[in-house]
Amino acid sequence: MKRSDAAELLQFDFNHIWHPYTQMKDFEERPLLFIDRAEGIFLYDIDGNRYYDTISSWWCVIHGHNHPVIKKRIREQMDRLEQLHFAAATHEGPIRLVKRLLPLLPESLTRFFFSDNGSTANEVALKISIQYWKQTGRPEREKFVSLERGYHGDTIGALSLGGVPFFEGPFSSLMFDSFKVPPPYCYRCPFGQDRERCQLQCADAVAELFSEHGQSIAAMIMEPMLIGAGGMISYPAPYLERVGKLCREHGIHLILDEVATGFGRTGKMFGFEHAGVQPDFLCLSKGLTGGYLPLALTVTTEQIYNAFYADYSQGKTFFHGHTYTANPLGVAAALGSLDVFQQEQVVEKLPGRSACLQNGAARFQELEHVGDVRGIGMAAAFELVQDKDEKRPYDPDLRMGWQVYLAGLEKGLILRPLADVVYLMPPLCIEPDQIEDILERTYDTIRDVTAGVGG
Ligand SMILES: Cc1ncc(COP(=O)(O)O)c(C=O)c1O
Repeated sequence: MKRSDAAELLQFDFNHIWHPYTQMKDFEERPLLFIDRAEGIFLYDIDGNRYYDTISSWWCVIHGHNHPVIKKRIREQMDRLEQLHFAAATHEGPIRLVKRLLPLLPESLTRFFFSDNGSTANEVALKISIQYWKQTGRPEREKFVSLERGYHGDTIGALSLGGVPFFEGPFSSLMFDSFKVPPPYCYRCPFGQDRERCQLQCADAVAELFSEHGQSIAAMIMEPMLIGAGGMISYPAPYLERVGKLCREHGIHLILDEVATGFGRTGKMFGFEHAGVQPDFLCLSKGLTGGYLPLALTVTTEQIYNAFYADYSQGKTFFHGHTYTANPLGVAAALGSLDVFQQEQVVEKLPGRSACLQNGAARFQELEHVGDVRGIGMAAAFELVQDKDEKRPYDPDLRMGWQVYLAGLEKGLILRPLADVVYLMPPLCIEPDQIEDILERTYDTIRDVTAGVGG
């Protein structure tokens, strides 16, 4: 593309396009990052500058960009069928996809509802849960439980169960009432414990809530092993195990939101595998298609499905759907992604790659303004603080995350810190020497930015 064309397009973008999670005014003085193409774990801008895609283009491009296997699947599907309404009609792709996913999931999860993004996958689980209780004689079970700092999407239902105040701001009056429990956030433990002395008091809080209000609760939703957008908080498997048990004991549905953790991110194919927990719902998206097209799944049990299976006149149909439900191209991409998992032995290679990332990340602890280093599998995070001894955060007006983002670009990195938490979630196909290189560049970026700000 000619430089003059690029400049004109960028100006047009600024004049007409509203970008997500973006204060557009920031781009009065500087241009948006204008990406031209991608290959593997790299993105290239229109000037030919190369950047590591350290966040897998919003956590989904797990096999890297421009992968021939996934592209071939999509191309072949394009010549056959590109879109079909999925109500009372079907096609080959979703059937083949479910056949391949079934053996990867707990035996009890046998019913698959398609949609097209992470928020809808969660909304579907919430609605099925509520309707289930209405149709099984427990209409009083209407409440949901979620974690403070959890994140399940931006639609109103999903947002109602999120716990990131930053995202909720002006919408609080729209959100429905729910129970929130303190998160297993070990660095800032709400119960004043440290990792060595931890007795899982945060899980006790769930037990207490269930004892008092269990009969009115439909479901608890949570991200297994890693709270993502709420601060990239990895937490111990016993917490998940305990919550899973409590849900069983109290007959409360457990919804595991694996939108971010599913498909290898935590070092295993799914986050639930770390804890041997039995969810009633599993919500999948992002890595499902390797990040090539939007697609999502809400997977549930035979027992729940059967509460909807009745003569039409009984009014038990689940009236919910989206235009692009089980879109054939999305499903083809998902089949391609599963091909790559097999052909490239992605899961088998995860322990080595994860160890490389986590071991390399550990040394960030020596930086003066890195308060906490945490992570699991192929996700590592560094929480920046003004004062390490007191764990005192930076003044939000300093916009440390934004500064790290800008400085990262200069070092060939696309970072996207969550407030003051800098994290790495590279494509799973990344090689150890590339992990080392990203770590080194990120280390230097954090060191330089924090050295220049507020002591
Ligand atoms: C755990 C989790 N759930 C749900 C979502 C929402 O997914 P989407 O942006 O596709 O709606 C996200 C997005 O980051 C997520 O991380």
